[in-house]
Amino acid sequence: MDLSSKDSDKVDTLMGLMTLTEKIGQLNLMAAGEGLLTGARQPTSLAERLADGQVGAIFGTKSLATARAMQERALAGSRLGIPLFFAEDVIHGHRTVFPLNIGLACSWDMDLIAATSAFAAAEAAAEGLHQVYAPMIDISRDARWGRVAEGPGEDPLLAARIATAAVRGFQGNDPGGKGRVAACLKHFVAYGAPDSGRDYDNASLAWEDLLTIYLPPFAAGVAAGAASVMVAFNAVNKLPMHANAPLIEGWLRAGTGFDGLVVSDYTGVAELTAHGLGRAPVAVARALHAGVDMDMVGEDYLRELPGLAETGVAAPDAGIALSAVEITALIDRACRRVLRFKQKLGLLEDPFRRMERAARPPARAKGRALARKAAARAAVLLKNDGLLPLSPKARVALIGPFAADRANMLGTWAVSGRADDVTPLHEAVAALTGRLPALAWGANIVDESWLVERLNVHGVTVQQDPRPEAEILAEALAAAAAAEVIVAAVGEAKEHAGESSSRLSPDLPAPQQRLVAALAQTGKPLVVVVFAGRPLALGAVAEQADALLYAWHGGVAGPEGVADLLFGAAIPSGRLAVTLPAHPGEVPSTYAAEPTGRPSPGRFAKFRTGWLDLPDDAPRFPFGFGLNFGDVLYGPPRLSRSRARAGQTVTLQIEITNTSARAAIETVQLYASDPVARITRPRRWLIDFRQVPLGPGESRVLRFRVTADQFSYPLAPSLQDAEWVRDPGEIHLHIGANSRDTQRTELTWMD
Ligand code: BGC
Repeated sequence: MDLSSKDSDKVDTLMGLMTLTEKIGQLNLMAAGEGLLTGARQPTSLAERLADGQVGAIFGTKSLATARAMQERALAGSRLGIPLFFAEDVIHGHRTVFPLNIGLACSWDMDLIAATSAFAAAEAAAEGLHQVYAPMIDISRDARWGRVAEGPGEDPLLAARIATAAVRGFQGNDPGGKGRVAACLKHFVAYGAPDSGRDYDNASLAWEDLLTIYLPPFAAGVAAGAASVMVAFNAVNKLPMHANAPLIEGWLRAGTGFDGLVVSDYTGVAELTAHGLGRAPVAVARALHAGVDMDMVGEDYLRELPGLAETGVAAPDAGIALSAVEITALIDRACRRVLRFKQKLGLLEDPFRRMERAARPPARAKGRALARKAAARAAVLLKNDGLLPLSPKARVALIGPFAADRANMLGTWAVSGRADDVTPLHEAVAALTGRLPALAWGANIVDESWLVERLNVHGVTVQQDPRPEAEILAEALAAAAAAEVIVAAVGEAKEHAGESSSRLSPDLPAPQQRLVAALAQTGKPLVVVVFAGRPLALGAVAEQADALLYAWHGGVAGPEGVADLLFGAAIPSGRLAVTLPAHPGEVPSTYAAEPTGRPSPGRFAKFRTGWLDLPDDAPRFPFGFGLNFGDVLYGPPRLSRSRARAGQTVTLQIEITNTSARAAIETVQLYASDPVARITRPRRWLIDFRQVPLGPGESRVLRFRVTADQFSYPLAPSLQDAEWVRDPGEIHLHIGANSRDTQRTELTWMD
């Protein structure tokens, strides 16, 4: 069939011509894996599937040549010439690896996030990719969960803005446009709220929480035009997401109007059986019925749907009964969505769109410059006793397992990144200051040998220093003794965070805690830089350091961004997108917790909400926190009116002044709280923020619009019965530099 003809709707035409087998083939989403058609190991099952027209899309092709070869095979194997589309995990950059998403979130800079997404899209598109499995917009408030690294942090408003910015960056105005790709919002939904922080575990939460915390980023991503969504592995309130019709076909499609493609996660359909939802045919019927259009890797659709389309399914124990006719209609529904997606990407007109042999990725140097800027913007300055920025003349000892590290800087989910592209910290410092700092390993990345073994299971090697700890430490202290300033580069290995990498105790590995304590004992000025994939409870380290910089895993130019901040070539502007707890046992934690009847009044009161063995004033760093090199002063906030009708807009005005001689980038944050409501509401929640550059001594007046709809909330005995309400009465507005240090004004809604 000539798919390039412009007349009639191609999707309708194709649907009319396709056999059931061909339709089912379109729902099969395969991994390129070992089956590279340009490699030596063909034919593989993938090659056979392609020859039989049994593949709808492939993810993980690692080159344009591979994608082209697979497309040629697919076209040859498809009676109607239906092309594949190609996808990839482009999570925080593609070949040019940007900081982890949690780090990008800490930039609070939506233009930057759009720019890094756009650059990644251009690199991916040049390799013949059409879809990226991003943005990952799972809110998480649990530092134990390893995938905090990939996400936007703990706050729904910040995450929603990030979703919008990322979709804008990936797709532009057209996901099929030049240098653009289709975004795939994931993981739908509440994947970031697993029980006890264990990856893949289920989420049990109030429907109100689902509606106000976990769903808003998806609503924002859909509103921004995201072309696809990936379903999460977990169950939400007892119903696994791959069978969750009320959330997929209900909230997502009927509720938000989403009309794109829904894909499963990796073998997520097959996993319904382990969830206890029935054997393969039943599980498949449930997933298809729930609205999962494509089946990733498991091939359960391919195996089971032909039979189901003949017999239908009746499984009273699993609560599902669908006739053969109904199953056939569901297959049509899913197939039509796959074809529409291909049409949207322009593939029905030109299967080789984007695959011109001359396709050029964007200039790598441009990406590196963006990555360096992003790394500096992602790092959060948590403490600075006047030590930073350092003089380039200072004699520095750079100590710790990350002082000369490349591979860990890429962080988790950097599938196309290369460690060789990373400039390690010692070289970045040398390039800025003109001399190589004294270097010492100082401590091991992990202490327990079983953990090293575990981390090594998947073929990764966590580099350790085999010498006894006392010897490693002695060398570090000798390097420190000869220096004027110590910079300790500590943190987590990249394998510590990521998928299936939850940690029971999210803190700095013990040998590194001992290293920092020993370095502090020297009395030399001590800068601690933390490279990590999650918010770590820093405990005593926060007190021992004279300056503390939280740099995450910053990507190919991560260490250069850090060096820029250490020596004042960049100014710190990062703000925590997630709370840094005082103690690992404190998680999950969030600034937006609900009040209790027994709040914490002080450290000696026993009958309070808290822990016996954790003082209330333990050093934790709140959401939104981050320092500049100098001080920014907030004037008194003023409201345009203190009483308003629901239809009116109130303006909150505030003047901020940079009182220092250094430039600053301030992120002014506006929070709200509702002292009297029908149900208990968060202590406060973010309703707006604005990022402003301030020259030395500069003042700026900012105005925030406040409207009544920012104060509606759901009452939700169930998802279907959720009702959004808004009450008249007093609300409080809190404005400041982070979620804790704010000034309050009051406003009354008269109706
Ligand atoms: C992850 C997804 C990812 C997929 C494909 C899964 O294990 O949960 O985030 O997109 O694999 O690599």
